[in-house]
Amino acid sequence: MSTLYNQQALTSALTTALIGHRVEMHPQVGSTNDLVREAARLGEPEGLVIVADEQVAGRGRLGRVWTAPPGCCVLCSVLLRPRISPQHAFYLTIAAALAIYRVIKVLSTQHSALSTPTIKWPNDVLLEGRKVSGVLCESEFAGRDWAFTVVGFGINANLRPDELGDLRETATSLSSEFGREIDRTRLLASVLSELESLYFMLQGGQLGAVHAEWARALETIGKRITVNDFGGAVTGKALRVDPDGALVVRLDGGGERRIIAGDVAFSDR
Ligand code: BTN
Repeated sequence: MSTLYNQQALTSALTTALIGHRVEMHPQVGSTNDLVREAARLGEPEGLVIVADEQVAGRGRLGRVWTAPPGCCVLCSVLLRPRISPQHAFYLTIAAALAIYRVIKVLSTQHSALSTPTIKWPNDVLLEGRKVSGVLCESEFAGRDWAFTVVGFGINANLRPDELGDLRETATSLSSEFGREIDRTRLLASVLSELESLYFMLQGGQLGAVHAEWARALETIGKRITVNDFGGAVTGKALRVDPDGALVVRLDGGGERRIIAGDVAFSDR
């Protein structure tokens, strides 16, 4: 039997102090990120959480569409108003990926057959090498000030392999890997709790600790990769991540390149 996934169930499951002080849960929206951004522009305090059972205009990174069948995934956006320097905006992306990673890691320890999850730079969470979650952070700045960030994430909770369609090779779901239905309320409450604790670390200046944990979870480092940089595809060995989150690649043709945004694919050659 499906467990309850509604506003009241989520509110009762939350253990957070800030994130989720106000929760909205909708059967269908365009994009939860858009709804949170509109609320932010109207002066909503940080901590608002908007969740949907279905998005008809869900957005992913790099201008992509994010689709998920209704009633099976976690589709959520959180409003944050960080007080740290706007030059550290990337750290919220790191924190969101890490929050999801931590929760999935705990879940996967109950399944000895599964390897530990990983993060594909910058913020895809992978299980058994396939994507189970993606993060889309969108920030607005007012002059030199950081006005707000919308932290949006999608987690493939209860999806059958056939529902993944063409993405079956590269994506998976928690239910497929764990062989049981996932309680989305508990999953989301746990992610929001981890996100809050990482956010408080950032607000308290512990950027290095958050970065170090994220860097340790990255499966990308040391691998041969191809990444679509703004200037076209580059291939080489991923060497490290810089403090600002950039991926440093030693290019096959010689030299190093810092990648700020892009889509990594592993390359055998
Ligand atoms: C990615 O991997 O490309 C990021 C996907 C982010 C999807 C989430 S679902 C909830 C929120 N609302 C959106 O429109 N996008 C994010």
